[in-house]
Amino acid sequence: MNRRQFLALATLTGLSAACGSSGRPATPAPPAFRTELRIPPLLEPRTARDGTRHFALKIQRGRTELLPGKPTETWGFNGPHLGPTIRAARGDRVRMSVTNRLAEASTVHWHGMRLPARMDGGPHQMIEPGGTWTPHWTIDQPAATSWYHPHPHGETAGHVYRGLAGMFIIDDGDTPELPGEYGVDDVPLILQDRDQAGDADVLGGTFGILGDRMLVNGTYAPFMTVRAERVRFRVLNGSNARRYNLVFGDGRRFHVVGNDAGLLAAPVEVEQVSLSPGERAEVVVTFSAGEQVLLRTVSGGDDIDEGDFDLLKLVAAERLTPSPALPSRLAAPEAIVVPANARVRRFRLNGHDAINGKEMDMSRIDEVVPAGATEIWEVENTVYAHNFHIHEVAFQVLDVDGQKPPPYATGHKDTVYVPPKSTVRLAVRFGGFTDPVTPYMYHCHLLRHEDSGMMGQFVIVEPGTEDRVSRTIAH
Ligand code: C2O
Ligand code: CU
Repeated sequence: MNRRQFLALATLTGLSAACGSSGRPATPAPPAFRTELRIPPLLEPRTARDGTRHFALKIQRGRTELLPGKPTETWGFNGPHLGPTIRAARGDRVRMSVTNRLAEASTVHWHGMRLPARMDGGPHQMIEPGGTWTPHWTIDQPAATSWYHPHPHGETAGHVYRGLAGMFIIDDGDTPELPGEYGVDDVPLILQDRDQAGDADVLGGTFGILGDRMLVNGTYAPFMTVRAERVRFRVLNGSNARRYNLVFGDGRRFHVVGNDAGLLAAPVEVEQVSLSPGERAEVVVTFSAGEQVLLRTVSGGDDIDEGDFDLLKLVAAERLTPSPALPSRLAAPEAIVVPANARVRRFRLNGHDAINGKEMDMSRIDEVVPAGATEIWEVENTVYAHNFHIHEVAFQVLDVDGQKPPPYATGHKDTVYVPPKSTVRLAVRFGGFTDPVTPYMYHCHLLRHEDSGMMGQFVIVEPGTEDRVSRTIAH
């Protein structure tokens, strides 16, 4: 009997999966869900005379009792843990000021944002202790749920695990029919796992952290009072390595309305949604007055999604505000069409520290892409579970081992799960910001893998100048 069959049998017979073949501890007894879910505050911008919206972030240290009775050192933006939600609309000019109050250098990367490479916040835009970085750009992309987190090469896993992560919501002319009142019926859910032993080794083992305690928005065993008939959840997998297979305790069906980089063409009804690290989904769930239901994650049969855990208890009020029906069409960004002569690039994920046999090298440009190109990127995975994230772009998944992705994952994305021993093909649309000397990154978003070298660099250049671009970066 393999592990999956064992778990299936254990579930059927009501046995607890006390001793899986991995030797990991059993799934813990369900906690009481008595702490109210924290909602990250919205970050108020200051609007300058010329209309630019200024957002101020301070990276700081703090102490937080993330797990009961275990206060621990945490890092956060403008607070001791996690960061405020940034919200801006298409067409907004934004200017960030990011001050680093840590004792070590860090960066802030705007994951999912389409912007010039110098503003991207990757490993080439380090902010020294005491320093302030002020990137600015114009938001020009469809409505989406994106996020921000540090990206210092070799240190990202530790910086994110300590708490440096926040959401970045992009609005675009809004779809009024979708629930949209922040914190009421439009609710961010940042999913992260913690190792309750407390001294988690973020770079240990094959995958780094696979914790045994679940946090939502930094809250352990949270409940949320539901006050509207329909709630839109913006779910972000902000974990170092864990993959979530989200279901409701009563098996209810719900609708996915958006992927990482935009809305779907129409809501897709599902009973489960899977998210690997860095991925997002927008889902709409319908409630009846007075009911209670658990949001859970269940084992998926891979190393990075072992274990069943309850995440969040949803408690519907005795009276719910009526919500409009779900629209049958959504404001999806247009499909990415691959031209017949599209360039195909191949990426082989080797072990857990290299792509195409090469470890990340900050001074090497791996790929040169002409501005505005649409290409096919083919990602082949040899052994372990991985995923793949590309900065700056939006892509659509063409196929996974020749099979179409599930309907709920056919929208615009920037991060995709790559199962062991499989090949994922992506239709990738690159933007128009050119800079031959500042690269964007592509990498596995399991942070231990990213840190140990499963990452590469590409530049976007003026079409026709590809051959003239230097393949090394001077520091
Ligand atoms: Cu979310 Cu290169 O990162
Ligand atoms: Cu990986």
